[in-house]
Amino acid sequence: MPHLEHVGIAVEDPDAVTRLYEALLEVRPYKHERVDHEGVQTHFIATGAAKLELLEALGSDSPVARFLDKRGEGLHHLAFEVDDIHAHMQRLRERGFDPLSDEPHPGADGKLIFFLHPKQTHGVLVEFCQNTPTPWPPTAVPYRGEHLAVYERGSAESPPLVVLHGLGGATMLETEPLVRHLEPHFHVLAFDFAGHGGSAPYDDVVLSVDFLADNVRGVLDHFGLEQAHLFGFSIGGYVALRFALLHPHRAARLAVHGANVDWSAELAEIMNARLDAEMLEAQFPATAQRLEQVHSHWRRLFARVNRMVLHLPAHRQTQHALHRIDHAVFVSAVDRDDLLPLGVPFSLHRALPNSTLAILPGTRHAFRDLDPALYARLLVPYFDAG
Ligand code: CO
Repeated sequence: MPHLEHVGIAVEDPDAVTRLYEALLEVRPYKHERVDHEGVQTHFIATGAAKLELLEALGSDSPVARFLDKRGEGLHHLAFEVDDIHAHMQRLRERGFDPLSDEPHPGADGKLIFFLHPKQTHGVLVEFCQNTPTPWPPTAVPYRGEHLAVYERGSAESPPLVVLHGLGGATMLETEPLVRHLEPHFHVLAFDFAGHGGSAPYDDVVLSVDFLADNVRGVLDHFGLEQAHLFGFSIGGYVALRFALLHPHRAARLAVHGANVDWSAELAEIMNARLDAEMLEAQFPATAQRLEQVHSHWRRLFARVNRMVLHLPAHRQTQHALHRIDHAVFVSAVDRDDLLPLGVPFSLHRALPNSTLAILPGTRHAFRDLDPALYARLLVPYFDAG
């Protein structure tokens, strides 16, 4: 169902309005984005369920300038997010509405958008929008003679939050939709693990949980951060917990989703069966193609990842030390996980002295099956509470 994504407000003096919302809500804009083809400078403010999009006119003949001339400062539009913007536009046309453009077009915030004129909507301009996978340019962060690809989002004034993907995954394959929902609230540092996605191959290094945890340290050091919140999906969650053990004072609060540190030989075998390059190419050619695009040598990566998984059952140090992690940890899992039994998150929750547990309905292990908006609504207040 479409939901209110943001409220557009036309402003004459963005600094004054920014100060106003700082006084009212104690929040500052987390993003400023210029959209030249609309003649507008936008300033985004996070307000919980929906964002505020402050619209400042660039030039006197832009639509926002004309709006300000005619009506002055105030409510400019309501924007509703839909799953399939083309289908939605078609449906509205069939119902007799006449959108202001022939096709959805790129707007601010990595979205496709279209508008309905206020004449058709009882006086309020209505926008419909859909997130598009934005090719965010990563920052190449130097690390051990090569580089890690870091996607830095949100305001540097917000609390830092490191976002970790799963094994064989990448930010753009997995965590990007969640990052969109986190960037209004945090200084997000989502990065691709060594050998994954946009990061360098690190061919000479044997992949291990300890090495990936050291990747986290390298990223924090580069940004001069003594401490950060950590979110990790699947093996990324294991890495987050390992990092908290190795560098307790550098981890603030943690959240792990679909994570397991207690690997039996049987579970490792199931995991490797999912990460089998031959199988993926034969049975899921579209997935294999996507992996080919995102990783530099995905078959070689998967072979290294398979070796890492085989060694997981022998490494018991983290499992045996979970009681020493006294950080606040949000443990979450899904009730239809096709990789990990439900006992896994329960055991993890029991072993971590200061954790809370959430089981989410109706999704599978794969991160893309998780509703990022729903998950962010759980995560944001949890991190904010610390
Ligand atoms: Co808008």
